[in-house]
Amino acid sequence: MTVIGFYGSTKLEGWRKKLSQYLDDFTVVDLVSNEGEQADIALVWAPPAGQLAKMPNLRGIIMQGQGVDYMMADKTVPRDVPLVRLVDPDMSNALSHWAILAVLDFWRDAPHYRTCQAASNWHPILQRPTSKIKVGVMGVGAIGGLIAARFTALGFDVRGWARKPRHIDGVEVFAGRGGLAPFLEGLEILISVLPLTPETRGIMNTNMFNQLNKGAYIINGGRGQQLVEKDLLNAIKRGQIAGAALDVFSTEPLPASHPFWSHPSITIWPHVAAQTNPDTAARQVAAAITAIMAGQEPDNRVDWRRGY
Ligand code: GLV
Repeated sequence: MTVIGFYGSTKLEGWRKKLSQYLDDFTVVDLVSNEGEQADIALVWAPPAGQLAKMPNLRGIIMQGQGVDYMMADKTVPRDVPLVRLVDPDMSNALSHWAILAVLDFWRDAPHYRTCQAASNWHPILQRPTSKIKVGVMGVGAIGGLIAARFTALGFDVRGWARKPRHIDGVEVFAGRGGLAPFLEGLEILISVLPLTPETRGIMNTNMFNQLNKGAYIINGGRGQQLVEKDLLNAIKRGQIAGAALDVFSTEPLPASHPFWSHPSITIWPHVAAQTNPDTAARQVAAAITAIMAGQEPDNRVDWRRGY
């Protein structure tokens, strides 16, 4: 029987029920209980540092989310055990919907019309075109590739930036450090869905903002630590950046005293662009468990050296 351990998951019952649609012989345990040590599989998001190192039977770690930065930060996590990140097409879909919503809200002047409505003011302004507008997506993997393709379908001029060259129909993809400057040049909208790695930490900073078109808009659905928050505030003040829609922050929950909360040009989302839902994620999780328990290589195994 496969023992699946959760750390403090309030949704344990929901997961158990959903996983039973795909797995036969398994039981779920709470990793912090006495039974926790028996777990073959840890299905976790952000367990306390050191927790996974205490599990003698551990054969696989499966993430309840897409990012693996919590695992990377814990030097005690056993690295010989497969670590699998969640790639759920429904979550990729959700993130692409959020990015489209954030871009169109800005591009179609929704903040202006909300202000007008609050003042009962009928004040049309001419809509901006889409066809020549350059949208850049940083991180064109499973999620970013979908976002790039969807913005192409909406009629934007879309570019992608990735670690390695790759092909996406209708999207010019720039690769590596050397590809960053040509990728950024002339962008009106910059969307990040990058994973957090030593290379991407602090990547959205004054230097990057200055390479974008004046008045560009920033959308961050990657990780908060990729954005230098004071550089963004400064770039908005200078008019270099028009504003931002942010789903992720250096500190979450965003502290009540943070200047982003009351900034008229910044839209805050409380890390909800793509939430994990066992209804759609259980299929992927069960496939990873089945592969690991059969001694096979699971899909979406994390490469520790690459960092995602
Ligand atoms: C959410 O941010 C995730 O990594 O799943």
